Amino acid sequence: MQTVQNLGKIGSMKIFAASANQKLANAIVKQLNIPLGLSEATRFPDGEISMRVNETVRGSDVFIVQSTSTPVNDHLMELLIMIDAMRRSSAARITAVVPYFGYARQDRRTRSHDPISAKLVADLITQAGADRILSMDLHCPQIQGFFNIPMDHLRGIYNFADYLKHNFGDLSELVVVSPDFGSVTRSSNFAKMLGVPLAIMDKTRLSSTETEITHFIGDVEGKTAVLVDDVLSTGGTLCNAAKTALKKGAKKVFACVTHAVLAEGAMDNLNDSLLEKIMLLDTIEIPKEKMHPKIEVISIAPIVAKAISCIHLGQSIGKLYQGDMYRTDQMMLDE
Ligand code: R5P
Repeated sequence: MQTVQNLGKIGSMKIFAASANQKLANAIVKQLNIPLGLSEATRFPDGEISMRVNETVRGSDVFIVQSTSTPVNDHLMELLIMIDAMRRSSAARITAVVPYFGYARQDRRTRSHDPISAKLVADLITQAGADRILSMDLHCPQIQGFFNIPMDHLRGIYNFADYLKHNFGDLSELVVVSPDFGSVTRSSNFAKMLGVPLAIMDKTRLSSTETEITHFIGDVEGKTAVLVDDVLSTGGTLCNAAKTALKKGAKKVFACVTHAVLAEGAMDNLNDSLLEKIMLLDTIEIPKEKMHPKIEVISIAPIVAKAISCIHLGQSIGKLYQGDMYRTDQMMLDE
């Protein structure tokens, strides 16, 4: 991995991590060659969060890395409290780096009396004092508009395209498969990036843990199918999609999924699944007991480090993309 070297320009950038993404935050600061900010999140005896920031942040450009992953409410609250601590400690600017933005499922009112939780959480982060937000593969891209502060939105398909190009040799035997309607745009962009065909499935959700594939468009006969999704929760969607792809004649099935939610039932589903391998990003830290042998983790640390540098230096995040690839070179920071 390359290290960003122009520390002179970085100046008063400070990166902190609450408890959700310690490993990722450490990898990000390693890329940037700066230490991780000193802070600690502990609990009062009744379970309330106690947050300490153990160094000055006055006048600093502060980045807080924290996914709102399980335990979602605790992680969200830690993020809000840490933003508050930074604001009250006179940070010059606070960017919430939320690789996985939880509470994204209720993003519109589908029935009477529904909340729009995604908007509420966006408001909470803003009201706590964040000036900007950096996230990846929001469940629905329109959530960007729920923030009245600048938001930068990274896309996981660039990481997956890079991985496949370097590890899969001949891409011509691949077909990208969208496991549901919600993933069509992402999958279609991914297929274009790789220069391979696209197949589309549609699913009906029978309950929060059960899905059924209802439609299939495309040709996977004799090909290696690559399923693309934003979230692996129970794994039901991917397992059903893998079964269908194999029934339709695919030779093998792989999956590229951004957020490893890995909720209850996921391990059993993965054990029983016909999926060969699942590539996941480290937007959510996977606990040891959930590191299923079929899982391979690709780190987003290099791209998040670059995005943080761009934000800090006032450079275009668009420069991170070069054609179909994320730029991983040092040059962009010097341009
Ligand atoms: C649904 O809209 C999402 O994109 C995922 O397909 C879904 O969250 C996956 O859930 P599960 O793994 O429980 O099927």
